[in-house]
Amino acid sequence: MSISFTVQSSIHNYDVFVQSTPDFISQLAQHPQACFVIDENVWNLYSATLLEALPANDVIVLPINEDRKNLETVQELYDHFVKLSAKRNLTLVSFGGGILQDITGFAASTIYRGINWIYIPTTLLAQADSCIGGKTSLNYRGYKNLVGTFFPPTQVHIFTPFLKTQKESDFYSGIGEVIKLHLMGGEAHFRKFIQLAPSILKRDPVALLQAIQASLAVKLNYMTGDEFDTGRRNLLNYGHDFGHALESTSNFAVPHGQAVVFGMMASNIVARNRGVLSKSLADEVLQNLLLPSLKVLPAAESIDPEAMMAVMKQDKKRTGSLLALIMMQNNFDFVRVNDLTSQEVTNAMAECRAILGLHT
Ligand SMILES: NC(=O)c1ccc[n+]([C@@H]2O[C@H](COP(=O)([O-])OP(=O)(O)OC[C@H]3O[C@@H](n4cnc5c(N)ncnc54)[C@H](O)[C@@H]3O)[C@@H](O)[C@H]2O)c1
Ligand SMILES: [Zn+2]
Repeated sequence: MSISFTVQSSIHNYDVFVQSTPDFISQLAQHPQACFVIDENVWNLYSATLLEALPANDVIVLPINEDRKNLETVQELYDHFVKLSAKRNLTLVSFGGGILQDITGFAASTIYRGINWIYIPTTLLAQADSCIGGKTSLNYRGYKNLVGTFFPPTQVHIFTPFLKTQKESDFYSGIGEVIKLHLMGGEAHFRKFIQLAPSILKRDPVALLQAIQASLAVKLNYMTGDEFDTGRRNLLNYGHDFGHALESTSNFAVPHGQAVVFGMMASNIVARNRGVLSKSLADEVLQNLLLPSLKVLPAAESIDPEAMMAVMKQDKKRTGSLLALIMMQNNFDFVRVNDLTSQEVTNAMAECRAILGLHT
């Protein structure tokens, strides 16, 4: 039995299945024209168990990390694909976290101008957030997500038992995006998360599934009517302005979702200083959600205001000469401003350094 929903997309609609047993994996293994691409860590953990049914000799095992999320790695995949007899009828089936998703999604969207792609997310971040939305992104010359396409898989299969083996820092990276989506879902989601947090953090399967489904529902809501991210969907980048900058300045030592936690903290400071977010709500979010989930602290030099601003100026959605920022406001309303000043960045970084006890 699986619970499923369909995401409407003008590229193609796609189905998200929440699987309660691993039977779907044996079914995928029978696919006649499939090529399986699997994150190396996932393969090492599960090749003898959950992934046993896959044809081991035909599996492409990809070692991944953030600095392999680039065109060279995609070319490695093209080199494999062109050797296969299946061409436009090829189905790519990929298992892994958000990095593997971005690499395989980009490859699937570009080879032969697009092939069928089935994705099985194996991290919390990918199950609760990135698996829907259809974005594929690559880093380019150290800049985060500068190259990409819109291309959803045709099927997503969510199977939460994969999450048991995630490393603590990666699991908390996913928690960062889950928190972001619960804040963006409004006060009821925020309170529900606080109530469920002890079970979620213990990786209780029922609580995790609830958090994943709530996160996906909120994301879907923001995407509706703005699939290509020209308006409201852009608000989902809350925490990502400072977050993407920190990923770059730390040379990706801070995982994506952990950088987003830092980004939400910094953005809330700016919002509070502007008077659009009350001190009491900002403090409540900081103490209850952000500080307890920040497990990978940035080095003090990574949050140097000049270094952060140099990266933020590369933001592909920036329009004017000042910087852009998405802020949380009172009543859990989110807004994008295009007039973030260097003084505000300097003040926010100083306060973050003090809160986190970082010394230069
Ligand atoms: N395309 C999108 O819409 C979108 C949205 C959000 C984030 N992202 C991207 O996702 C990436 C982060 O994804 P992530 O947090 O899933 O990280 P990830 O893909 O790097 O995975 C983290 C680590 O966990 C390992 N791993 C994966 N599954 C595992 C499992 N079940 N058990 C044990 N280890 C496992 C991986 O090998 C890796 O070492 C970033 O590059 C970010 O930019 C993309
Ligand atoms: Zn993100």
